Amino acid sequence: TKKILLFCDPGIDDSLAIMYTMLNPDIELVGIVTSYGNVTKEQATANAAYLVQLAGRNDIPIIPGASQPVQQEDVTFYPEIHGDGIGPIHPPSNMQYQTYPFDTIRYIIEKYRDELIIVDTGRSTTLAMAFILFPDHLKMVASLYVMGGAFFVPGNVTALAEANFYGDPTSSNYILKFAHNLTITPLNATQFAILTPDIVDAISKNKKNIYAFMMAPVFEYYYEFYKKSVPGISGAPIHDLLTIMVINHPTIVDYIYYDANVVEGGEAKGMSYIDYRPTSKTGKTRIAIQLHYEAFIDEFSRIMLP
Ligand code: BDR
Ligand code: CA
Repeated sequence: TKKILLFCDPGIDDSLAIMYTMLNPDIELVGIVTSYGNVTKEQATANAAYLVQLAGRNDIPIIPGASQPVQQEDVTFYPEIHGDGIGPIHPPSNMQYQTYPFDTIRYIIEKYRDELIIVDTGRSTTLAMAFILFPDHLKMVASLYVMGGAFFVPGNVTALAEANFYGDPTSSNYILKFAHNLTITPLNATQFAILTPDIVDAISKNKKNIYAFMMAPVFEYYYEFYKKSVPGISGAPIHDLLTIMVINHPTIVDYIYYDANVVEGGEAKGMSYIDYRPTSKTGKTRIAIQLHYEAFIDEFSRIMLP
């Protein structure tokens, strides 16, 4: 089994990524680091705690991270897309849960070392903080997977930028520069990782899936937004879930290898780019540029429709 430390901002697609890991015997989630992004850090933290509790996994440490990006104090949240993070579903108001200090990241890395994979499906601030605070530890981990960017395709938060790299582009650049064995799944692949109403319907009826009760309302909330923003779309993209899926199923996407960069300010803030000129050299980051949809949906169904 793969040991994963997940940095995230749940978030509907982050939530689906957590559900997928909870139900997947080939993945062991060894910690969740929560940050601002789709919702506030506090809400993201409660959402993550709720999703692991539903799976009876209160033992998974939840570690709160950043509340805001490095460049500015004000943060834009996205209730129109994610509601309070799990769409219209809220953690019970009397839910009890424990959180762990940031240093726990160091202990988790020391425990698992080169067995550990770090995944970041949120804004880049918290992972960049971990790189700055524990540089030698970050060198020990096996590999990193980051959801972010849009290469030569439209962004989703601006014409040029994808939300995770737009949220804190300075931190994104830091990660892109210092991470080794880095795979990124940008919108090029993730925008096509679409969950459709028929599959949601089947999951809702599946008694073996502990999340079945929330699947339809969560999906409907999310799909409502996408129907308005992408005319004719047949479902809603679950970006973050794809990012985790490719760890064990790398051939679900095709890759190019380049050094990726993010524009840190101005009109093009958050825009990701590579030097794609014919004379340019390939680089160190594995970038998913195309999705094989059938393979994606087969693997999704294998786990979510047990
Ligand atoms: C990414 O931005 C967030 O809003 C989603 O959860 C995903 O991680 C998609 O651009
Ligand atoms: Ca996310």
